[in-house]
Amino acid sequence: MEHLVRRVRADEWQQVRDLRLAALQDPVASIAFQETYEYSVAQPDSFWQGRASGAAVGDEVAQFVAEGPDGSWAGSVSVIVERVGGNSPFAHQVSVDQAIVVGVFVRPEARGAGLADALFRAAVDWSWGVQEPKIQRVRLFVHERNARAEGLYTKLGFERTGVTVPMDGDRSDELEIEMAVRR
Ligand SMILES: CC(C)(COP(=O)(O)OP(=O)(O)OC[C@H]1O[C@@H](n2cnc3c(N)ncnc32)[C@H](O)[C@@H]1OP(=O)(O)O)[C@@H](O)C(=O)NCCC(=O)NCCS
Repeated sequence: MEHLVRRVRADEWQQVRDLRLAALQDPVASIAFQETYEYSVAQPDSFWQGRASGAAVGDEVAQFVAEGPDGSWAGSVSVIVERVGGNSPFAHQVSVDQAIVVGVFVRPEARGAGLADALFRAAVDWSWGVQEPKIQRVRLFVHERNARAEGLYTKLGFERTGVTVPMDGDRSDELEIEMAVRR
C-alpha cells in the first residue's frame, strides 16, 4: 500500500491523539515511550491541539505521519530541536545545536515495509534544513532491550555515542542508549 509521508497539520489533533494512544498500547510501549497510556488518555483536547499545532509549523518541533490512501495514519515520527543552553527533554546539558527524534511508531500491520525509513528520512532532512544556527547532529534514545528499534536506527546510519541514561524512578537499573547521526 502506498503511503504519503508528510508533516502533520494543526487541525489534525484528533488523529495525533488516536495514533499516540495506539502507540502507548503497544506491547513494547513501556520500553519505547516516556509517557504512559494512563497519562495521555487523561489529557484534555487542548493538550492534543497544542501538540498538533506546535508540530505543524515552525522550526522547533515537527511531526511527520505516514498517511494511507484512505486517509488513515500508519505511523509517525517527531523531532524536537535542542539549542545550546536550552532545556533537553532528557534533562541534561545540550552542548551542540541538535535535534532529537521521539515518538517513533509504526502500526504493527505496517511494519517491515520501509515506512519507518521514510518517516525518518523526512524527520532528518527537515532537521538539516533548520537554520540559524544549523543543526549539527540528530540524536535519539533507545531502550537497551528494544532490539528492533535499534536495528532500524543502525540501518539508517545512527551510531551509539557511548552516552547512556538510566530510566526514571524505580526502573533506574534499565538504560536508555543514545544514538546519533551527524550532518
Ligand atoms: C521501531 C519501529 C518504528 C520500526 O519500524 P519497522 O517497520 O518495524 O522497522 P524495520 O522492519 O524497517 O527495521 C527494523 C530492522 O531491525 C531488524 N530487527 C528486527 N528485530 C531485530 C532484533 N531482535 N535484533 C536486531 N535487529 C532486529 C529488522 O530485521 C530490520 O532490519 P532489516 O530491514 O535490515 O531486516 C516499529 O517496530 C515500532 O513501531 N515498534 C514499536 C514502538 C517502538 O519501539 N518505537 C521506538 C522507540 S525508541
